[in-house]
Amino acid sequence: MRDTTDRVLVGLLFLLASVACEEERDPELRPHCPSWKTEVQDAVETRCAGCHPSFSRYATFTSDALARPGALDSPILTVLAPTTTIAGHRVPVETRAMLTAWVTSCDLRYSDTPVHAGGLLDPRSDDFHAKAWRASQYSTTTCRDCHGSLSSGRGDAPGCETCHAGGEEACSTCHARIYEKGAHGVHISGGALGLRYECALCHAEPETFRAPNHTLLPNGELDELPPEVMLGEAAGPNAHYDPASGTCAEVACHVARPGDTAAARPEPVWTAPLSEPACDRCHGEPPAGHVSDRCLDCHPSPVQPDGTNASRHLNRQVDLGRSGSGTCDDCHGSGASGAPPPSLSGATDPRVPEVGAHRAHLEPSRRLANPAACGDCHLVPTEISQPGHVDTPAPAEVFPEAIRATSLAFGRGITPEFRREDLRCSGVYCHWAAEPHWTTIGLNEITCGSCHPIPPDRAPHYPGLRITECGTCHTSTIDLLGNFRFVDTPEGRRTTHINGRVDF
Ligand code: HEC
Ligand code: HEC
Ligand code: HEC
Ligand code: HEC
Ligand code: HEC
Ligand code: HEC
Ligand code: HEC
Ligand code: HEC
Ligand code: HEC
Ligand code: HEC
Ligand code: HEC
Repeated sequence: MRDTTDRVLVGLLFLLASVACEEERDPELRPHCPSWKTEVQDAVETRCAGCHPSFSRYATFTSDALARPGALDSPILTVLAPTTTIAGHRVPVETRAMLTAWVTSCDLRYSDTPVHAGGLLDPRSDDFHAKAWRASQYSTTTCRDCHGSLSSGRGDAPGCETCHAGGEEACSTCHARIYEKGAHGVHISGGALGLRYECALCHAEPETFRAPNHTLLPNGELDELPPEVMLGEAAGPNAHYDPASGTCAEVACHVARPGDTAAARPEPVWTAPLSEPACDRCHGEPPAGHVSDRCLDCHPSPVQPDGTNASRHLNRQVDLGRSGSGTCDDCHGSGASGAPPPSLSGATDPRVPEVGAHRAHLEPSRRLANPAACGDCHLVPTEISQPGHVDTPAPAEVFPEAIRATSLAFGRGITPEFRREDLRCSGVYCHWAAEPHWTTIGLNEITCGSCHPIPPDRAPHYPGLRITECGTCHTSTIDLLGNFRFVDTPEGRRTTHINGRVDF
C-alpha cells in the first residue's frame, strides 16, 4: 500500500515537472520532436543502413563523429546537403528537416515519452538516464516505480534489463568499459605479460552494488570520484599510490630490484600511454650489473622465446634455470651432470660447439682413459654466482688460467688452448701433439696412435716394437695382450693411461 502511494507520488511529480516545462514554451514555437524510437530509427533503416549498417545502433548514430546535440554542422546533417554528389545522401526534404530538428532542437531524443528529456540515452547529456539515477542516490524506487521489476518493465517503460544484462545493479552495467580508463586494461584484461588481476589488487572490492563505501558513503551521500586506491598485500609491503600525480611506487611487480638503473619506469604513471616493446619498464634488459643479455641462458623458464611465461614471471621470486631449482643441470646438462647436452640453448647435437665432445670425455666408452673432470677444462663453480661462472658473456671459458694447478690438460707445463675459430684444441697434455676437432664425434677422430705414435719415435722405443710388448716396461698401464689395465678403486675402475705421468 505504502509502495503504491510512493509510486503514484513519484509519477505525479514527473508529470507535473514535464507539464510545467512544456508550459514555459510557446506551443506554436515548440518544434515537433521526433524521437529515435518513433521516426529516426525507421528513416535510418530505410535510407542509410543499406550503406552504413552500423548506423542502426543509436549509440553509433549519435557518436561524436556523426552527431552532437544542438550542432547544425553534425556530419549526418552536412552530408545530406542538396549539393551532395552521393546518391544515397539525396533524401526527401522532410527527412532532412526531421533529422535537423532531431539534432538541433531535440537533444537526439530517444523515446517519445514526455516523462524523460531528450538526452535520456546520450551519455554526453545532463539528462542521461544514469545521471538521473545517480542523482537520486541510486534510489531503489525512483525508476522502478515506472519501470517495474528488472525483467518485465511496466507498461511502456521497459525494465532496465532490456538493455543491461543482469539489471542496473550488475557490475557490468557500470564497469563494463573500465578497461578503457587509465591502465585498467592491461591489469584486468591482460597485456603482453599475460597476467590478469582482480579489482581487489588495488581497491576494496564491493561484494554487491549496495556494499557500504562503494558508491554511497555511510551517511547515504554520493561517494565522489575518484575511488580510493588501496593496494593490497599482493602489490608488496611498501607499495603506495599517489593520487595527485597518479603514480605508483615500490610496487613489487614494477620494481624487480630497487636501484636497477636500467629500469625505464619503475614508478609507473597510471594514465601514461603504454609503449611496446615494454620489457625494460620494470627492470633493465638486462638489469644493471648483468653481464649477459641472453636471458634464456639463465632464466629459461620465465622467459620463453615468445616473451614470457606468465606463471613464473612476476611471481615475486627470481627464477633461475628450467625448473627454478637452481641446480647445475637446471640450466645446462642433464642427470646431475651440468655438462651439455643439452646446451644452454637446449641443443643436443654434438656437432653444435656448445655440446661437442663433452660426453666422449665424461663417459669415455672406448676405455682409453678415465672420465675427464669438468675441472680439466673449466673453472667449476660450487654456486651459480661464484666469480668466473656467469660473469662473462658467451661462449663458456675453456682452460682458464685459474685451473692450471689442478687440470690434467695443463700437464707438461705448456698452455692448452681451445680455438673457437676452427674448434680444435692444441697444447693439451692429454692429446700430446695432436690437435683434435671438438665436434667430430664417432668418426675415429681419436684412435690408438693419434696422440702419440705406436711405438713412440724415441728411445728406448724402436720401430717394430709391438703393442703386446709395451707391457714389459709400462706394466701398470698395459698388459701383455696389449689391453689397458683397469683396476677397481674407490673412484671406480681406473687406468693409469693419461694420468699426468708416464707409468711403468
Ligand atoms: C548508397 C549508399 C549510401 C547511402 C544509402 C548513404 N550513404 Fe552516407 N556515405 C556513402 C558514401 C559512399 C560515403 C563516402 C564515404 C567516404 O567518403 O569514404 C558516405 C559518407 C557518409 C558520411 C561521412 C562519413 C562517415 O561515415 O563518417 C556520413 C555522416 C553519412 N554518409 C551519412 C549518411 C546518412 C545519414 C545516410 C542516410 C540518410 C547515408 N549516409 C546514406 C554512401 C551512402
Ligand atoms: C513516471 C514514470 C517514469 C519514471 C519515474 C522513470 N521512467 Fe524511464 N521511462 C518511462 C517511460 C514511459 C518511458 C518510455 C518508453 C517509450 O518510449 O515508450 C521511459 C523510458 C526510459 C528509458 C528508455 C528506454 C526505452 O526503451 O524507451 C530509459 C533508459 C529510462 N526510461 C530510464 C529511467 C531511469 C534511469 C529512471 C530513474 C532515474 C526512470 N527512467 C524513471 C517512464 C518513467
Ligand atoms: C534502451 C536501453 C537502455 C535501457 C532500457 C536502460 N539503459 Fe541504462 N544505459 C544504456 C546505455 C546505452 C548506456 C551507456 C553505456 C555505455 O556508456 O557504454 C547505459 C548506461 C547505464 C548506466 C551506467 C552509466 C555509467 O556511468 O557508465 C547505468 C547506471 C544505467 N544505464 C542505469 C539504468 C537504469 C537504472 C535503467 C532502468 C531504469 C536503465 N539504465 C535502462 C541503455 C539503457
Ligand atoms: C592495478 C590496480 C587497479 C586495478 C586492478 C583496478 N583498478 Fe580501478 N583504479 C586504479 C587507479 C590507480 C585508479 C585511478 C584513481 C585516481 O584517479 O586517483 C582507478 C580508478 C577506478 C575507477 C574510477 C575511474 C574513472 O576515472 O572514472 C573505477 C570506477 C575503478 N577504478 C573501478 C575498478 C574496477 C571495477 C576494477 C576491477 C574490474 C578495478 N578498478 C581494478 C587502479 C586499479
Ligand atoms: C550503478 C553503477 C555501479 C554498479 C552497478 C557497480 N558499481 Fe562499482 N563503482 C561505481 C562508481 C560510481 C564507483 C566510483 C566510486 C567512488 O569514486 O568512490 C565505483 C567504484 C568501484 C570500485 C573502486 C573501489 C570503490 O569501491 O570505490 C570497484 C572495485 C567497484 N566499483 C566494483 C564493483 C563491483 C564488483 C560491482 C558489482 C558487484 C560494482 N562495482 C557495481 C558504480 C557502480
Ligand atoms: C648469465 C646468467 C644470466 C643471464 C644471461 C641473465 N640473468 Fe638475470 N639474473 C641472473 C642471476 C644470477 C640473478 C640474481 C639472482 C639472485 O640474486 O637471486 C638474476 C636476476 C635477475 C633479475 C632480478 C632483479 C635483479 O636485478 O637482480 C631480473 C629482473 C633479471 N635477472 C632479468 C634478466 C633479463 C631481462 C635478462 C635478459 C635480458 C637476464 N636477466 C639475463 C642471471 C642471469
Ligand atoms: C610490469 C613490470 C615488468 C615488465 C613489463 C616485465 N617484467 Fe620481467 N620481471 C619483473 C619483476 C618484478 C621481476 C622479478 C622477479 C619476479 O617477480 O618474477 C621480473 C623478472 C624477470 C626475469 C628474471 C627471471 C624471473 O622471472 O624471476 C626475466 C628474465 C624477465 N623478468 C624478463 C622479462 C621480459 C622478457 C619482459 C618483456 C616481455 C619483461 N620481463 C617485462 C617485472 C616486469
Ligand atoms: C674436454 C674439455 C671439457 C670438459 C671435460 C668439459 N667441458 Fe664443458 N665445454 C668444453 C668446450 C670446448 C666447450 C665449448 C665452448 C664454446 O662454446 O666455445 C664447453 C662448453 C660448456 C658449457 C657451455 C654450454 C653452452 O651452451 O654455451 C657448459 C655449461 C659446460 N661446458 C659445462 C661443463 C661441465 C659442467 C662439465 C663437467 C660435467 C664440462 N663442461 C666438462 C670443454 C669441456
Ligand atoms: C642459472 C643458470 C645456471 C646454473 C644454475 C648453473 N650454470 Fe653453469 N653456466 C651458466 C651459463 C649461462 C654459462 C656460460 C657462461 C659463459 O658463457 O661464460 C655456464 C657455464 C658453466 C661452465 C663452463 C665454464 C664457464 O664458467 O664458462 C661450467 C663448468 C658450469 N657452468 C658449471 C656449473 C655448475 C657446476 C653449476 C652448479 C653449481 C652451474 N654451472 C649452475 C648458467 C648456469
Ligand atoms: C723398454 C721399455 C719400454 C717399452 C717396451 C716401451 N716403452 Fe714407452 N717408455 C719407456 C720409457 C723409459 C719412457 C720414458 C722416456 C722419457 O721420459 O724420456 C717411455 C715413454 C713412453 C711414452 C711417453 C712419450 C714419450 O715420448 O716420452 C709413451 C706414449 C710410451 N712410452 C708408449 C709406449 C708404447 C705404446 C709402447 C709399446 C708399443 C712402449 N711405450 C713400450 C720405456 C718403454
Ligand atoms: C687421447 C690421446 C691418446 C691416445 C688416443 C692414446 N694415448 Fe697412450 N698416452 C697418452 C698420453 C698423454 C700418455 C702420457 C702418459 C700418461 O699421462 O699416462 C700416454 C702414454 C701411453 C703409454 C705409456 C704408459 C703410461 O700410461 O704412461 C702407453 C703404453 C700408451 N700410452 C699406450 C697407448 C695405446 C696402446 C693406445 C691405443 C690403444 C694409446 N696409448 C692411445 C695419450 C694417448
